[in-house]
Amino acid sequence: MVPPWAPSFAPRTFEHKLGSRRAKPGSALGALFLVPTSDHLAPFAGMIRIRFCGCDLSPDDGAPRYAEASITRVSRARYDGIAEWYDREFATGELATAPREATLRLLGDGPGALLDVGCGTGAHTAVLSEHGWSAIGVDISEDQLRLARERGLEVVQGDATNLPFEDASFDAVVSMWTHTDVEDFPALVREVARVLRPGRPFVYLGAHPCFVGPHSRFISAEGVPELHPGYWRTERYDEGPAISPRGLRAKVGASHLPLGDFIQSFLATGFKLEQFEELKTREYPYVVALRCRR
Ligand SMILES: C[S@@+](CC[C@H](N)C(=O)[O-])C[C@H]1O[C@@H](n2cnc3c(N)ncnc32)[C@H](O)[C@@H]1O
Repeated sequence: MVPPWAPSFAPRTFEHKLGSRRAKPGSALGALFLVPTSDHLAPFAGMIRIRFCGCDLSPDDGAPRYAEASITRVSRARYDGIAEWYDREFATGELATAPREATLRLLGDGPGALLDVGCGTGAHTAVLSEHGWSAIGVDISEDQLRLARERGLEVVQGDATNLPFEDASFDAVVSMWTHTDVEDFPALVREVARVLRPGRPFVYLGAHPCFVGPHSRFISAEGVPELHPGYWRTERYDEGPAISPRGLRAKVGASHLPLGDFIQSFLATGFKLEQFEELKTREYPYVVALRCRR
Protein backbone atom coordinates (compact mmCIF):
# COMPACT_ATOMS: atom_id res chain seq x y z
CA MET A 1 0.00 0.00 0.00
CA VAL A 2 1.37 3.41 -0.94
CA PRO A 3 1.10 6.08 1.74
CA PRO A 4 -1.21 8.93 0.78
CA TRP A 5 1.55 11.52 1.23
CA ALA A 6 4.02 9.77 -1.04
CA PRO A 7 4.77 11.35 -4.42
CA SER A 8 3.81 9.36 -7.49
CA PHE A 9 7.36 8.08 -7.98
CA ALA A 10 7.34 6.45 -4.54
CA PRO A 11 8.29 2.79 -4.55
CA ARG A 12 5.25 0.60 -4.59
CA THR A 13 6.74 -2.52 -3.09
CA PHE A 14 7.24 -2.83 0.65
CA GLU A 15 8.79 -5.55 2.73
CA HIS A 16 7.35 -7.08 5.86
CA LYS A 17 9.32 -5.75 8.78
CA LEU A 18 8.27 -6.95 12.18
CA GLY A 19 11.17 -5.82 14.32
CA SER A 20 11.22 -4.18 17.72
CA ARG A 21 8.91 -1.20 18.33
CA ARG A 22 6.65 -2.60 15.63
CA ALA A 23 4.10 -5.38 15.61
CA LYS A 24 5.21 -8.41 17.56
CA PRO A 25 6.24 -11.28 15.31
CA GLY A 26 3.64 -13.96 15.37
CA SER A 27 0.94 -11.75 16.84
CA ALA A 28 -2.38 -11.45 15.05
CA LEU A 29 -1.65 -7.82 14.27
CA GLY A 30 1.95 -8.52 13.36
CA ALA A 31 0.88 -10.97 10.74
CA LEU A 32 -1.15 -8.28 9.03
CA PHE A 33 1.24 -5.35 9.18
CA LEU A 34 3.03 -4.06 6.12
CA VAL A 35 5.81 -1.66 7.02
CA PRO A 36 8.10 0.01 4.50
CA THR A 37 11.79 -0.45 5.23
CA SER A 38 13.85 2.57 6.21
CA ASP A 39 15.43 2.51 2.74
CA HIS A 40 12.05 3.04 1.17
CA LEU A 41 11.31 5.87 3.58
CA ALA A 42 14.68 7.55 3.30
CA PRO A 43 13.71 9.89 0.45
CA PHE A 44 10.85 11.23 2.54
CA ALA A 45 12.63 11.57 5.90
CA GLY A 46 11.91 14.98 7.36
CA MET A 47 8.96 15.64 5.04
CA ILE A 48 6.44 14.55 7.60
CA ARG A 49 6.24 16.59 10.78
CA ILE A 50 3.89 16.04 13.68
CA ARG A 51 2.54 19.37 14.81
CA PHE A 52 0.14 19.55 17.71
CA CYS A 53 -0.79 22.35 20.12
CA GLY A 54 1.90 24.53 18.57
CA CYS A 55 4.55 21.91 19.37
CA ASP A 56 6.56 19.87 16.90
CA LEU A 57 6.28 16.30 18.14
CA SER A 58 8.37 14.91 15.29
CA PRO A 59 11.20 12.57 16.26
CA ASP A 60 14.66 14.12 16.55
CA ASP A 61 16.32 11.28 14.70
CA GLY A 62 14.44 11.99 11.48
CA ALA A 63 12.68 8.64 11.63
CA PRO A 64 9.21 9.37 10.28
CA ARG A 65 7.19 7.85 13.09
CA TYR A 66 4.00 9.68 12.12
CA ALA A 67 4.32 8.51 8.55
CA GLU A 68 5.07 5.08 9.87
CA ALA A 69 1.89 5.24 11.92
CA SER A 70 -0.15 6.20 8.87
CA ILE A 71 1.17 3.44 6.70
CA THR A 72 1.80 0.78 9.35
CA ARG A 73 -1.66 -0.23 8.40
CA VAL A 74 -3.57 -3.28 9.45
CA SER A 75 -5.13 -4.52 6.24
CA ARG A 76 -8.43 -4.65 8.13
CA ALA A 77 -8.59 -3.63 11.77
CA ARG A 78 -11.23 -5.41 13.83
CA TYR A 79 -13.45 -2.34 14.14
CA ASP A 80 -13.30 -1.49 10.43
CA GLY A 81 -16.78 -1.79 8.98
CA ILE A 82 -18.68 -1.42 12.26
CA ALA A 83 -17.76 2.16 13.22
CA GLU A 84 -21.24 3.68 12.83
CA TRP A 85 -22.82 0.81 14.78
CA TYR A 86 -20.18 1.00 17.51
CA ASP A 87 -20.55 4.76 17.79
CA ARG A 88 -24.34 4.57 18.07
CA GLU A 89 -24.53 1.60 20.45
CA PHE A 90 -21.53 2.12 22.71
CA ALA A 91 -19.77 5.47 22.32
CA THR A 92 -22.73 7.84 22.34
CA GLY A 93 -25.59 5.86 23.85
CA GLU A 94 -26.76 5.69 27.45
CA LEU A 95 -24.04 3.11 28.20
CA ALA A 96 -21.37 5.74 27.50
CA THR A 97 -22.53 8.44 29.90
CA ALA A 98 -21.47 7.12 33.34
CA PRO A 99 -18.04 5.88 32.16
CA ARG A 100 -17.32 9.21 30.46
CA GLU A 101 -18.34 11.14 33.57
CA ALA A 102 -16.08 8.94 35.72
CA THR A 103 -13.17 9.55 33.36
CA LEU A 104 -13.73 13.30 33.44
CA ARG A 105 -14.01 13.31 37.22
CA LEU A 106 -10.75 11.37 37.62
CA LEU A 107 -8.96 13.52 35.05
CA GLY A 108 -10.20 17.02 35.87
CA ASP A 109 -10.20 19.88 33.38
CA GLY A 110 -7.37 21.04 31.12
CA PRO A 111 -5.46 22.89 29.80
CA GLY A 112 -2.72 20.74 28.38
CA ALA A 113 -1.92 18.29 25.59
CA LEU A 114 -3.91 15.11 26.07
CA LEU A 115 -3.64 11.81 24.23
CA ASP A 116 -6.64 9.46 24.01
CA VAL A 117 -5.22 5.98 23.33
CA GLY A 118 -7.62 3.72 21.39
CA CYS A 119 -9.88 6.73 20.89
CA GLY A 120 -12.24 4.85 18.55
CA THR A 121 -14.80 7.17 17.00
CA GLY A 122 -13.65 10.07 19.21
CA ALA A 123 -16.96 10.54 21.03
CA HIS A 124 -15.16 10.76 24.38
CA THR A 125 -12.17 12.60 22.96
CA ALA A 126 -14.53 15.35 21.78
CA VAL A 127 -15.95 15.77 25.27
CA LEU A 128 -12.44 15.90 26.77
CA SER A 129 -11.71 18.73 24.31
CA GLU A 130 -14.73 20.60 25.66
CA HIS A 131 -13.13 20.41 29.11
CA GLY A 132 -10.09 22.46 28.22
CA TRP A 133 -7.80 19.72 26.92
CA SER A 134 -6.03 19.95 23.57
CA ALA A 135 -6.87 16.37 22.71
CA ILE A 136 -5.43 14.12 20.04
CA GLY A 137 -6.57 10.54 19.48
CA VAL A 138 -4.75 7.45 18.28
CA ASP A 139 -6.42 4.25 17.12
CA ILE A 140 -5.59 1.29 14.88
CA SER A 141 -8.91 1.38 13.00
CA GLU A 142 -9.10 3.81 10.13
CA ASP A 143 -12.88 3.34 10.02
CA GLN A 144 -13.24 4.40 13.66
CA LEU A 145 -10.93 7.36 13.01
CA ARG A 146 -13.04 8.45 10.05
CA LEU A 147 -15.87 9.26 12.47
CA ALA A 148 -13.45 10.95 14.86
CA ARG A 149 -12.28 13.20 12.01
CA GLU A 150 -15.91 13.99 11.17
CA ARG A 151 -16.15 15.28 14.76
CA GLY A 152 -13.37 17.71 13.87
CA LEU A 153 -10.77 15.89 15.98
CA GLU A 154 -7.09 15.56 15.33
CA VAL A 155 -6.36 11.84 15.22
CA VAL A 156 -3.55 9.54 14.09
CA GLN A 157 -3.74 5.96 12.98
CA GLY A 158 -1.26 3.96 15.02
CA ASP A 159 -0.64 1.08 17.35
CA ALA A 160 -1.17 1.74 21.05
CA THR A 161 1.72 -0.62 21.81
CA ASN A 162 4.10 1.39 19.60
CA LEU A 163 2.85 4.95 19.86
CA PRO A 164 3.95 7.34 17.13
CA PHE A 165 4.92 10.13 19.55
CA GLU A 166 8.08 11.30 21.18
CA ASP A 167 8.90 10.65 24.84
CA ALA A 168 7.28 13.00 27.40
CA SER A 169 4.98 14.69 24.85
CA PHE A 170 1.71 14.85 26.81
CA ASP A 171 0.31 16.46 29.95
CA ALA A 172 -2.30 13.73 30.37
CA VAL A 173 -3.24 10.40 28.81
CA VAL A 174 -6.66 8.76 28.80
CA SER A 175 -7.60 5.33 27.55
CA MET A 176 -11.11 3.89 27.70
CA TRP A 177 -12.17 0.30 27.04
CA THR A 178 -8.88 -0.83 25.51
CA HIS A 179 -7.49 -3.62 27.71
CA THR A 180 -10.19 -5.92 26.31
CA ASP A 181 -9.13 -5.07 22.75
CA VAL A 182 -5.35 -4.70 22.47
CA GLU A 183 -3.25 -7.84 22.20
CA ASP A 184 -0.68 -6.68 24.77
CA PHE A 185 -2.05 -4.31 27.41
CA PRO A 186 1.19 -4.11 29.47
CA ALA A 187 2.89 -2.83 26.29
CA LEU A 188 0.19 -0.15 25.93
CA VAL A 189 0.80 0.97 29.53
CA ARG A 190 4.58 1.08 28.92
CA GLU A 191 4.00 3.27 25.87
CA VAL A 192 1.71 5.57 27.86
CA ALA A 193 4.46 5.88 30.49
CA ARG A 194 6.94 6.81 27.77
CA VAL A 195 4.87 9.56 26.10
CA LEU A 196 3.54 11.06 29.35
CA ARG A 197 5.48 13.81 31.11
CA PRO A 198 6.66 12.80 34.61
CA GLY A 199 4.10 13.38 37.32
CA ARG A 200 1.17 13.79 34.90
CA PRO A 201 -2.01 11.69 35.12
CA PHE A 202 -2.96 8.56 33.23
CA VAL A 203 -6.67 7.81 33.55
CA TYR A 204 -7.79 4.35 32.49
CA LEU A 205 -11.34 3.01 32.37
CA GLY A 206 -12.42 -0.42 31.18
CA ALA A 207 -14.33 -3.62 31.77
CA HIS A 208 -14.20 -5.07 35.28
CA PRO A 209 -11.85 -8.07 34.97
CA CYS A 210 -13.72 -10.06 37.65
CA PHE A 211 -17.14 -9.86 36.04
CA VAL A 212 -16.46 -9.28 32.33
CA GLY A 213 -14.40 -11.89 30.53
CA PRO A 214 -14.40 -15.37 28.99
CA HIS A 215 -15.59 -16.78 32.33
CA SER A 216 -18.65 -14.56 32.83
CA ARG A 217 -22.05 -14.34 31.21
CA PHE A 218 -23.03 -10.74 31.94
CA ILE A 219 -25.00 -9.65 28.89
CA SER A 220 -25.36 -5.85 28.68
CA ALA A 221 -24.07 -5.78 32.29
CA GLU A 222 -27.59 -6.40 33.52
CA GLY A 223 -28.44 -8.24 36.73
CA VAL A 224 -25.99 -10.62 38.39
CA PRO A 225 -23.14 -12.10 36.33
CA GLU A 226 -23.15 -15.86 35.87
CA LEU A 227 -19.63 -17.17 36.48
CA HIS A 228 -18.06 -20.04 34.54
CA PRO A 229 -14.62 -21.61 34.43
CA GLY A 230 -12.05 -19.62 32.44
CA TYR A 231 -11.10 -16.67 34.64
CA TRP A 232 -7.36 -17.38 34.14
CA ARG A 233 -7.61 -17.64 30.34
CA THR A 234 -5.60 -14.79 28.83
CA GLU A 235 -5.68 -15.80 25.18
CA ARG A 236 -8.02 -13.94 22.86
CA TYR A 237 -11.54 -15.35 22.76
CA ASP A 238 -14.53 -14.94 20.48
CA GLU A 239 -16.83 -17.63 21.78
CA GLY A 240 -18.06 -18.90 25.12
CA PRO A 241 -20.58 -17.89 27.77
CA ALA A 242 -19.52 -14.23 27.59
CA ILE A 243 -20.30 -13.86 23.90
CA SER A 244 -23.75 -12.72 22.90
CA PRO A 245 -24.41 -13.54 19.22
CA ARG A 246 -25.45 -10.01 18.28
CA GLY A 247 -23.08 -8.20 20.65
CA LEU A 248 -19.80 -6.39 20.07
CA ARG A 249 -17.58 -9.28 21.10
CA ALA A 250 -19.11 -11.64 18.56
CA LYS A 251 -17.89 -9.16 15.93
CA VAL A 252 -14.41 -8.24 17.23
CA GLY A 253 -13.48 -10.83 19.84
CA ALA A 254 -11.89 -9.85 23.15
CA SER A 255 -8.82 -10.07 25.32
CA HIS A 256 -8.94 -10.76 29.06
CA LEU A 257 -6.63 -10.01 31.96
CA PRO A 258 -7.32 -11.35 35.44
CA LEU A 259 -7.51 -8.51 37.97
CA GLY A 260 -4.00 -9.08 39.34
CA ASP A 261 -2.38 -8.99 35.88
CA PHE A 262 -4.45 -5.93 34.98
CA ILE A 263 -3.27 -3.93 38.02
CA GLN A 264 0.27 -5.23 37.68
CA SER A 265 0.39 -3.73 34.16
CA PHE A 266 0.39 -0.29 35.82
CA LEU A 267 2.59 -1.09 38.82
CA ALA A 268 5.26 -2.84 36.74
CA THR A 269 5.71 0.35 34.73
CA GLY A 270 6.28 2.42 37.85
CA PHE A 271 2.83 3.98 37.95
CA LYS A 272 1.46 4.64 41.42
CA LEU A 273 -2.29 4.17 41.77
CA GLU A 274 -3.96 7.29 43.17
CA GLN A 275 -7.55 6.28 42.71
CA PHE A 276 -9.25 2.98 41.86
CA GLU A 277 -13.02 2.78 41.49
CA GLU A 278 -15.73 0.29 40.59
CA LEU A 279 -18.66 2.13 39.04
CA LYS A 280 -21.76 1.60 41.14
CA THR A 281 -24.26 2.25 38.37
CA ARG A 282 -25.50 -1.36 38.16
CA GLU A 283 -26.35 -4.23 40.50
CA TYR A 284 -22.85 -5.62 39.87
CA PRO A 285 -19.86 -3.53 38.71
CA TYR A 286 -18.88 -3.93 35.07
CA VAL A 287 -16.46 -0.98 34.95
CA VAL A 288 -13.23 -0.18 36.76
CA ALA A 289 -11.62 3.26 36.54
CA LEU A 290 -8.32 4.48 37.89
CA ARG A 291 -5.90 7.37 37.92
CA CYS A 292 -2.17 6.84 38.27
CA ARG A 293 1.12 8.75 37.87
CA ARG A 294 4.84 8.04 37.91
C1 LIG B 1 -13.92 -0.80 22.71
S1 LIG B 1 -13.22 0.32 21.59
C2 LIG B 1 -13.03 1.80 22.61
C3 LIG B 1 -13.02 3.05 21.78
C4 LIG B 1 -13.11 4.33 22.60
N1 LIG B 1 -12.03 4.44 23.55
C5 LIG B 1 -14.44 4.39 23.31
O1 LIG B 1 -14.48 4.31 24.56
O2 LIG B 1 -15.47 4.53 22.63
C6 LIG B 1 -11.56 -0.24 21.50
C7 LIG B 1 -10.74 0.55 20.49
O3 LIG B 1 -9.37 0.12 20.57
C8 LIG B 1 -8.85 0.13 19.27
N2 LIG B 1 -7.64 -0.71 19.24
C9 LIG B 1 -7.58 -2.05 19.36
N3 LIG B 1 -6.29 -2.45 19.31
C10 LIG B 1 -5.55 -1.32 19.16
C11 LIG B 1 -4.16 -1.06 19.05
N4 LIG B 1 -3.26 -2.06 19.08
N5 LIG B 1 -3.75 0.21 18.89
C12 LIG B 1 -4.64 1.23 18.84
N6 LIG B 1 -5.96 1.05 18.96
C13 LIG B 1 -6.42 -0.22 19.12
C14 LIG B 1 -9.97 -0.37 18.41
O4 LIG B 1 -9.80 -0.05 17.04
C15 LIG B 1 -11.16 0.34 19.04
O5 LIG B 1 -11.43 1.58 18.43
